[in-house]
Amino acid sequence: MPKTKFKARRLAFIGAGYVGLVSGTALAEIGHTVILVDNNKEKIAKLKKGEIPIFEPGLEDLVKKNVKAKRLSFTTSLPDGVKQSEVIFIAVHTPPQADGKADLSFVAGAAREIAEVADNYKVVVDKSTVPVQTGERVAETIARYNKKGIDFDVVSNPEFLREGSAIDDFLNSDRIVVGVENKRAEKIMREIYAPIDAPFIVTDVKSAELIKHASNSFLAMKISFANALARICELSGANIDQVVEGMGDDHRIGPHFLQAGVGYGGSCFPKDVSAFIAIADELGYKFDLLKAVEQVNADACDLFLEKIKEALWVTRGKKIAMWGLAFKPNTDDMRNAPSIKIVEALNAQGATIQAYDPEATDTAKLVLGDKVEYMSSKDAALRDADALIIVTDWDEFKKPDWEKVHKLLNSPIVIDGRNMYQPKEMEKLGFVYHSVGRG
Ligand SMILES: NC(=O)c1ccc[n+]([C@@H]2O[C@H](COP(=O)([O-])OP(=O)(O)OC[C@H]3O[C@@H](n4cnc5c(N)ncnc54)[C@H](O)[C@@H]3O)[C@@H](O)[C@H]2O)c1
Repeated sequence: MPKTKFKARRLAFIGAGYVGLVSGTALAEIGHTVILVDNNKEKIAKLKKGEIPIFEPGLEDLVKKNVKAKRLSFTTSLPDGVKQSEVIFIAVHTPPQADGKADLSFVAGAAREIAEVADNYKVVVDKSTVPVQTGERVAETIARYNKKGIDFDVVSNPEFLREGSAIDDFLNSDRIVVGVENKRAEKIMREIYAPIDAPFIVTDVKSAELIKHASNSFLAMKISFANALARICELSGANIDQVVEGMGDDHRIGPHFLQAGVGYGGSCFPKDVSAFIAIADELGYKFDLLKAVEQVNADACDLFLEKIKEALWVTRGKKIAMWGLAFKPNTDDMRNAPSIKIVEALNAQGATIQAYDPEATDTAKLVLGDKVEYMSSKDAALRDADALIIVTDWDEFKKPDWEKVHKLLNSPIVIDGRNMYQPKEMEKLGFVYHSVGRG
């Protein structure tokens, strides 16, 4: 198929969160005129002042550059955003409900608001992660609430960026997935993405929706597989590092997402796995494989807590230094971070926690409040602590000054939930060292 020619378009993003802000900015960078709409007034006020509400490497410069070039703007007015745009991306959150299902009220709300103000042909692109068949509901909603009877297309364009490397992931994607129901929408989507050199996969809308849930669930499954393997390594005396290295060199398996540890967290995997189980259930399929993925993940965190307890004997009254709060490095995102469960469990056992995270302190405060003493450096967190636990594998924690760590800690115990260090070396340095799946 010949490469489609780029056509600069006027795009709106409903939702200026991690996905809306990054993908909207990246699409402005490749030449489109993008208006980011968010009903969070504070967020838009910050963006208008040039302040970036999230920590994402490289984003600030790119936002500033595109605002200056007049390709990127912000508003709280959805009608303004919709009226001046041909293509409207829905990038609102789809959080989990108590029963595991995705809460689609923000998607439904955005679709309705778009419908109420749209007065000519629009392409409405769902970028939020949604269960299969949501596109049909979005189309029904637009048809129902648009009194002018406009012509429109609903497209599914799932987003695969990772927080921490989001801009690069977007501009150098492994693939772009676009689910369409006709050639007109396909052509517009091809033109939008033309400058991005990545395989362009066109499917029907439902298949595109499924690709996103399937991809995230598959990656979560790899992590749980590694965690289950780590258990067998511990029970048998084998070493998980060696096992996954030997597996990962097989190109059919690949080395990624095979790191054993405290389990996956974040705003995507936990909610997408549970939403996938829920939609499968609704459709009449019991996705037991994914239920096991969830169980292994919960067990990984519990096991880490057991290791802390085992190492400290009694946790009540102990002071624990914690390195890392964010669910992974290079982000300040605390949504479903394993640190939350760990802090709450240790708190309930009567321990106090001195935590340090290079970027997530402010977001952690919103979730954990005074359950943690927030420290300004990794050294400060160590002072008088009875053990050090590693929860997020930030680069800053890779090569600490171990002599200093030894000196600052009350007792030289390190419980590493991310397998950052080598057991033999730690032993040589005089530490009691526990990690995951290494004999
Ligand atoms: N965060 C990620 O790494 C990531 C990656 C891929 C896909 N996704 C998916 O993308 C979607 C968005 O995720 P996120 O992390 O960007 O969420 P987010 O919570 O950071 O951002 C969502 C934004 O939408 C705004 N919003 C909600 N309803 C609105 C409305 N009616 N009008 C205007 N603004 C509205 C909220 O105020 C918020 O700022 C989710 O479905 C998520 O699963 C996220």
